[in-house]
Amino acid sequence: MSEPGRDTRLILSDVKVRELAALFGTPLYVLDEGHFRTRIRRYREAFRQAWPECEVTFASKANSTLAVLAIAYEEGCLIDAASEGELRAAIAAGVPTHRCHLHGNNKSFAELEFAFEVGVGQIVVDHFVEIEQIFELQQTYHRCPDLVLRLAPGVDPVTHEKIATGQADTKFGFNIANGAADRAVGVMLGLNLPLVGFHCHIGSQLLDSEAHYAAAEVVAEFAIGQWRRDRFMARVLNLGGGLGVRYLDTDEPPAVEDHCRRLVDGVVEGLGGFNLQPKLVQEPGRALIAESGVTLYRIGAIKTVPIGDGKSRTYLAVDGGLSDNARPALYDAKYSVRGIPADAREEGGEVPVFDDLAPVLDRFTVAGKHCETDTLFADVLLPHDLQVGDYLQVLCTGAYNSSMASNYNRFPRPATVLILEDGTPELVQRRDTWDEMFAREILPQRENR
Ligand SMILES: Cc1ncc(COP(=O)(O)O)c(C=O)c1O
Repeated sequence: MSEPGRDTRLILSDVKVRELAALFGTPLYVLDEGHFRTRIRRYREAFRQAWPECEVTFASKANSTLAVLAIAYEEGCLIDAASEGELRAAIAAGVPTHRCHLHGNNKSFAELEFAFEVGVGQIVVDHFVEIEQIFELQQTYHRCPDLVLRLAPGVDPVTHEKIATGQADTKFGFNIANGAADRAVGVMLGLNLPLVGFHCHIGSQLLDSEAHYAAAEVVAEFAIGQWRRDRFMARVLNLGGGLGVRYLDTDEPPAVEDHCRRLVDGVVEGLGGFNLQPKLVQEPGRALIAESGVTLYRIGAIKTVPIGDGKSRTYLAVDGGLSDNARPALYDAKYSVRGIPADAREEGGEVPVFDDLAPVLDRFTVAGKHCETDTLFADVLLPHDLQVGDYLQVLCTGAYNSSMASNYNRFPRPATVLILEDGTPELVQRRDTWDEMFAREILPQRENR
């Protein structure tokens, strides 16, 4: 949601970094409430300008911290849950269930039953057995959430292969190419299920809107095809999420206004003048929350090693890693990193300031604490005089960081602090406690223990 040439990412001042690190420790996720609210408002307004009947759903997989879900709901978003756990998180955050959508390529019967029980607003249907299960639940509950059919439109986006989902060769949804999607519509209409429309999500972190345009066209064309064949009138077309963000200073994602217009152009093209006026839905996650968050680390070790040809590499080892940010290991993801001097490196000394205008930079490799190589950020340029005890601020970590965190190597997951609109920091998710870390364990009793 950037503006050409303008960096919209949250960047904390050095003073703030030191203050938060002192108050809450590191590693620490920090989110800015005002920043997040502004992004949601801008996205919703951009979509409304492009197509008046529209909704924005927040993809909670990006960040399902309860405070985040509550803000997204307050700002008028629906909430997309990809599991019973995410649905329960939305409920715990106070989101009414009719404002929640349930996703998943292999929902268990229990998950579907829970969705019926609590009355979710919509289920995104992914395969034929699920249709049968929903039919069975409809017979039991005598009601059924609105249903949309997830389509695999056969559009291959330019992104990392692990977050590309729109191509024909995918586990998600019903293939249009092999006729599965047509058959699914027939089955659902035959069973009198409340099918309201179609869905697709082609991939994530897309830095131009052309694949979205193509998918929107395919989905709209498919909807017209269903009208022609079965007189089925789609009321909803959900075009998924996927708009990219600025991880690196050089990334230039499309402005959200341009993105929404392009998406709508695709729909209009696909409708081909046909008078179908569906509600359009998008379900962005990353584009709403990624740039509103940063992660703070403390440098604990610095090591320079030879790498051949007379060259060397300097590792900065930080107090987090793979368990709080899995994206570099999973997707080779890159980030922008800033170095911040610690309060007082020498007793009684002044707080050193890295000269922002003409800093002397060196290349460093930032490594985590885990037992793999756990390279977080390779070859990043940082002030040359960083020392043990200084901090790193990693930008654009609001999405797919805390929600993907694990306890690998038995590291407690970091806390999350929300900076309120008046600047006050508020703890919204505390660090795991040691008691919690072992709460699930059952040590088998033996005589010698
Ligand atoms: C079905 C679906 N919708 C929405 C999203 C959100 O994508 P993004 O965070 O890239 O906007 C995802 C991400 O994987 C998804 O699978």
